[in-house]
Amino acid sequence: MFPLTSSKASFLLHFSLIASLLLAASAGNFYQDVDQNFGDQRFQILEGGQLLTLSLDKLSGSGFQSKNEYLFGRFDVQLKLIPGNSAGTVTTFYLSSQGSAHDEIDFEFLGNSSGQPYTIHTNVYAQGKGGREQQFRLWFDPTTSFHTYSIVWNPQRIIFLVDNIPIRVFNNQESNGVPYPKNQAMRVYCSLWNADDWATQGGRVKTDWTLAPFTVSYRNFNANGCVKIPGSSACGSTNSLSNDQAWQTQGLDANGRNRIRWVQHKYMIYNYCNDASRFPQGFPSECKGSRF
Ligand SMILES: *[C@@H]1O[C@H](CO)[C@@H](O)[C@H](O)[C@H]1NC(C)=O
Repeated sequence: MFPLTSSKASFLLHFSLIASLLLAASAGNFYQDVDQNFGDQRFQILEGGQLLTLSLDKLSGSGFQSKNEYLFGRFDVQLKLIPGNSAGTVTTFYLSSQGSAHDEIDFEFLGNSSGQPYTIHTNVYAQGKGGREQQFRLWFDPTTSFHTYSIVWNPQRIIFLVDNIPIRVFNNQESNGVPYPKNQAMRVYCSLWNADDWATQGGRVKTDWTLAPFTVSYRNFNANGCVKIPGSSACGSTNSLSNDQAWQTQGLDANGRNRIRWVQHKYMIYNYCNDASRFPQGFPSECKGSRF
């Protein structure tokens, strides 16, 4: 260590004060927003609450959940995935309620061998029933830098976004008899775990434990939603840091429809609504409506 000159020191002090104010205004803090739910020391909050890492070794993965439960909202997190050989691992970011007839909205990142692409797996469960998978490739390498993954959940629709580009929309089609998640508050969950029995190429490629621990990084977690008041069915104040309530009615505009067409044309690798072998009696009703 060497002493800083006083002008350098005061510059650094000012710089870090300004930087921390900007961060406080633009994103939550993991200490305030989440609780660990498994994995002991494999869960770490760093940089004063701005960065969170999860790791996975042969004994266990790790995970966390939001302190609050939400009934609708917009949920964003930035993620940097496991580089190199991540085969067999699954990184998640999802919303879920509790109980047997639960609702769930999933983003899952299925690892792969070195140099092979990740798969983004999405699903929607309503009242305990899922089976609505769509899978995508990405148009960038998700392991070299942070990218933003978002879920918009409002009474009309669910939108999955990657770097603010919509990749999937699940519309509320209750009028056609399709259950829609709208009565059960959900928490945000994130985790890293081993699923080498199925995750990579149908389970043929196993996790290489000589590379453990595997680590993923999360930052800029932002839950802008309607916070459920414990013990009541009502939902209280929305996030006080932000008065951006656009999520409440967010849909796709012309630009959004162009972008989702581009993603679904070039990067969608699986859609349950195209998988006739799974539905010999006919496709589920939600597959028949308009796509976006
Ligand atoms: C891994 O990469 C191979 C080759 O591109 C691909 O066929 C496979 O679907 C990928 N698996 C996952 C889980 O992404």
